[in-house]
Amino acid sequence: MEWRVPLADVKLGIEEENAVLEVLRSGWLTMGQVSQAFEQQLADFVGAKHAIAVNNATAALHLACLAMGLRPGDEVILPSLTFVATANAIRYTGATPVFADIESEDWLCLCPHAVRERITEKTKAIMVMHYAGFACDMPEIMRIANEHGLAVIEDAAHAIGASLQGKALGTWGDVGCYSFFGNKNMTTAEGGMLVTNDDVLAEKARLLRSHGMTTLTWDRHQGHASSYDVVGLGYNYRIDEIRSAIGREQLKKLPAGNARRAHLVNRYRELFGRHCPQLGLPFEEDRGASSQHIFPVLLPSGLNKAAFRESMKSKGIQTSFHYPPVHEFKIYREFVGNPEETLYMTGLVASRQVTLPLFPGMTEAQQDLVVAAVSEALAG
Ligand SMILES: Cc1ncc(COP(=O)(O)O)c(C=O)c1O
Repeated sequence: MEWRVPLADVKLGIEEENAVLEVLRSGWLTMGQVSQAFEQQLADFVGAKHAIAVNNATAALHLACLAMGLRPGDEVILPSLTFVATANAIRYTGATPVFADIESEDWLCLCPHAVRERITEKTKAIMVMHYAGFACDMPEIMRIANEHGLAVIEDAAHAIGASLQGKALGTWGDVGCYSFFGNKNMTTAEGGMLVTNDDVLAEKARLLRSHGMTTLTWDRHQGHASSYDVVGLGYNYRIDEIRSAIGREQLKKLPAGNARRAHLVNRYRELFGRHCPQLGLPFEEDRGASSQHIFPVLLPSGLNKAAFRESMKSKGIQTSFHYPPVHEFKIYREFVGNPEETLYMTGLVASRQVTLPLFPGMTEAQQDLVVAAVSEALAG
């Protein structure tokens, strides 16, 4: 379908093209010096000691869970208002996801009070997700984790370039995981990065990324090693040089892209405040610097969401929904007892939430089209 205004749009330039060509001509295609340079560049950007590039953020989250030693019988507290990969990564280890509610209609991130209520003697970790690149209440989450001796894993798939109190999201907990999927603020087509300040966790994640092998093909090619041992049951979660080359260029462009997103979001807020005061606009509180990955709105209670989205579609405007709550999926229903009580706010928000178009290349004329279309759809 040809959208007048798509939900997201990715623009790669001559810089990415040249970087990829350089790799293709170099004769070395998989994890080597370009990937190492990408890791160093990202570590410097977010202020982390270690950055480990992988083939997607789901792999990064899985490695994070493995590095923390999660196993069957352990419980991990997480939001249900997230992408299913957050929960899947926990289950790959055999550990049990325990869903907790979000803060409120104004802040769609894991609620620290709800986390406290879900802690049992089996709880080993908290996995937060910085929705749209807005910060969870990390000071309070870290306080709870420290009090109870829990690990904290940050699903920062939306949050590259975002910070709270000047500290990058993804670097507050033990491990942070970024996604570079094709619709993210920076992309490598498929790709992800795990960051940590902990030497032991970094070493474990590095080993498990590549079959648990003690040396890499690149080390042997360089003559630094001639054989290897296998010391853990690892995976092939490696990134390649082509993606890393794209990532290096994308990372340079990220601050400008995020600044443009912030400008568009401020303009959306101003226009909707004037023309559609009945529309809910979460994340108005001043809490850190968001990466503004997506622009979520809440429809007025009782308005038919499917009809609203159909009306937007008929005007050529793409919308989405972040997210169908994970606990409502067939393979997750067994993990919740009484969602009306424990996940009340998640259900309420999910029933009203719609995501509107947002991307750095969006023009103000396109944005005006979206606002006019929302106005009309709300008027019925
Ligand atoms: C919140 C969240 N977590 C995890 C992921 C998984 O990322 P990837 O597609 O890189 O595996 C995504 C990607 O869409 C996401 O939005």
